[in-house]
Amino acid sequence: MEKESDPARRSIRSFVRRAGRLTPSQKKALAELWPQFGIDFDSRLLDLDALFARRAPRTLEIGFGNGDTLVQQAAARPLHDFLGIEVHEPGVGHFLLRIRAAGITNLRLIRHDAMEVLAQQIRGSSIDRINLYFPDPWPKKRHHKRRIVSASFLDLCAHALCAGGSLHIATDWDNYAEYIDESLAAHPDFVLADARTHAGDQPLDRPRTKFEQRGLLRGHQIHDWIFICEKQVEPLALSGT
Ligand SMILES: C[S@@+](CC[C@H](N)C(=O)[O-])C[C@H]1O[C@@H](n2cnc3c(N)ncnc32)[C@H](O)[C@@H]1O
Repeated sequence: MEKESDPARRSIRSFVRRAGRLTPSQKKALAELWPQFGIDFDSRLLDLDALFARRAPRTLEIGFGNGDTLVQQAAARPLHDFLGIEVHEPGVGHFLLRIRAAGITNLRLIRHDAMEVLAQQIRGSSIDRINLYFPDPWPKKRHHKRRIVSASFLDLCAHALCAGGSLHIATDWDNYAEYIDESLAAHPDFVLADARTHAGDQPLDRPRTKFEQRGLLRGHQIHDWIFICEKQVEPLALSGT
């Protein structure tokens, strides 16, 4: 069976490369700080122990946007390591500036499609927590196929997470929330641990994000979930782990 996560076959992506110019300071940050904090995309598995020079609990954030939330979480948990994945270059530039200002070292980032990173760079059972905050909602019906939450995405998350690891999701789109409820309920490896709908005042173990703030200004309610990964069987399709 063809896997949607196979990069050679996957043409529908969850993002469009947004135009957006790097400011001179973001450009400088990319040149100076990428060697310290950036990880180039590569089809080989990452050795996260070597990369962080320790074995600590690891959180992966997918689509971190400008990264402010990720920097806050990494600064608050110096005994944990954090890995961010984002495709938007100005966001990555902004993020590098924030990392330098915060003076933290427990954070690395990859500028690439998270589906391919999960499929090719992340070792099975090597991640303790995955955060997916306010993924692009693709509200039009004909665009629903672009939503990152899908059976293949959840397979990849289940593969990356260790048994007992957690998947944290938040959205401000009611229709996406229904879709997330259905997709997770249908997946054999995830069990709901906590969920709430609120007015931006009761996030589940996370800071407020930039897109959450935008949603609140539009009068949206916020949906938060935590799912626990209870692996039934290790997926066979992902080799090399
Ligand atoms: C709506 S924004 C939310 C940003 C941030 N999490 C927040 O809450 O402010 C979604 C982000 O996900 C990124 N994104 C979408 N699909 C992605 C993918 N497949 N791999 C990496 N990043 C992705 C987009 O570039 C965008 O910055």
